[in-house]
Amino acid sequence: MEKYLINPNERIAEISKDIYGHFSEHLGRCIYGGLYVGEDSKIPNKNGMRSDVVKALKEMGIPVLRWPGGCFADEYHWKDGIGDKKKRKKMVNTHWGGVVEDNSFGTHEYFELCKQLGCDTYINGNVGSGTVQEMNEWIEYMTFDGVSPMAEFRKKNGHAKPWKIDYFGVGNESWGCGGNMTPEFYGDLYRRYNVYVRNYNPENVIKRIACGPNGGDYNWMEQVLKKTRWLTDGIALHYYTIPGDTWEDKGSATEFSTKEYYKTIAKAYRMEELIRNHIAVMDSVDRDKKVKLIVDEWGTWYDVEPGTNPGFLYQQNTMRDAIVAGLTLNLFNKHADRIMMANIAQTVNVLQSVILTEGNKMVLTPTYYVFKMYKDHQKNTLIGSYLTTPKEYSKEADRSYPQLVESASINENGVICSTVTNTSATKSAKIRCQIADTKVKSIRAEILSGEIHDMNDFKNKNNVKTAEFTDFRKHSDGFTANIPACSIVKFVIE
Ligand code: AHR
Repeated sequence: MEKYLINPNERIAEISKDIYGHFSEHLGRCIYGGLYVGEDSKIPNKNGMRSDVVKALKEMGIPVLRWPGGCFADEYHWKDGIGDKKKRKKMVNTHWGGVVEDNSFGTHEYFELCKQLGCDTYINGNVGSGTVQEMNEWIEYMTFDGVSPMAEFRKKNGHAKPWKIDYFGVGNESWGCGGNMTPEFYGDLYRRYNVYVRNYNPENVIKRIACGPNGGDYNWMEQVLKKTRWLTDGIALHYYTIPGDTWEDKGSATEFSTKEYYKTIAKAYRMEELIRNHIAVMDSVDRDKKVKLIVDEWGTWYDVEPGTNPGFLYQQNTMRDAIVAGLTLNLFNKHADRIMMANIAQTVNVLQSVILTEGNKMVLTPTYYVFKMYKDHQKNTLIGSYLTTPKEYSKEADRSYPQLVESASINENGVICSTVTNTSATKSAKIRCQIADTKVKSIRAEILSGEIHDMNDFKNKNNVKTAEFTDFRKHSDGFTANIPACSIVKFVIE
């Protein structure tokens, strides 16, 4: 029996709702076909946005959406995506499949989508191939309420009032697809570009995000922060879970052995080490801990589904992905004192999506259900949680990690939410939970579970979904429960 202590007296930090954020790039069928079908589509839509997808994302509790990239952001020229759609410039999406980008989804459409979703905005600017003037004018176009060339331009294009930018990223992966820069060079560029990301509107103080490291590149973190720490609110780490050892053989999303499953989980758990180490580097440079950690690209990355465009990064999603999401979100919660935002890649039809679409059909993936279950944590206060757990070891990844990963939070009414992920493919786990100084009145619980390969597809949409969980016994000070193998269980305790 594993011992689980929840300590509501240990109030650690508010869990930013934006830890549950998403990322949507002009890549494959994420925007086009996934989120946006255009006003003239037969697929039900409101102002071009797919009604089914918008409804599902709202129900899941999407708090913030990052756009337009990714690598695409550093080739995106915003003026191509405004005004009369018939006259918008077409471009080649060189990064992603070499397809024609007709720019029918641009700035106005992005804000319309976020309005419909009721979520915050996170725009990534172009440092790689864009000018300072271009970035400056974009900010002016989006946020200025006075009389100025860009504000007039926006009005002429049909939007009198400015929009609100919650977060603005100054470049993306500037160490790679965003310009192949050194950290020192990027740090200097950040300083320059950032000056012109002006707060045009006193009511819209933009949170600035610097491009952070690729995985374990601690030198990037240190050098960039040394140059930018007083000028930035967050620095963005990217880390993907790729089971294979090469880009050519990342592994299949659906056909994998148990060994590959454990290798995937071990690699996903590397996030804990990355967060800890990067925070240690951040603390050494930014002693006031002013700059927050952002993880604005994370998730699983497999070989594309057979027969699909290799540049579209379309992959299926199984219970393995749900376990990756469950454990990762628990890790983010546990570091709520330093993590301001995270954005899984990518919302629809790309990488570890929460939704897949095919024409007018839509499927919710196992990962979707994890986000929906965990939405109770948004804006709660993280509280102390300690769970003993057997360790797993993946020889293939040469890493060990805990079988059980948990987090716990409390809302303003004293309701505790705890999510427990059992990463084992075969072993259930009995836990005895004690909640300090608490008399438990009631417990509701929900579960997402299955065999590691289980998934939803267009023929069988409801194979994996959440259900009520009853295999627990309430005690006056907590509960005992049997957490099945390959599952995520949420306890709501009053
Ligand atoms: O999410 C797909 C790509 O992964 C993004 O465009 C890029 O930032 C990262 O390399």
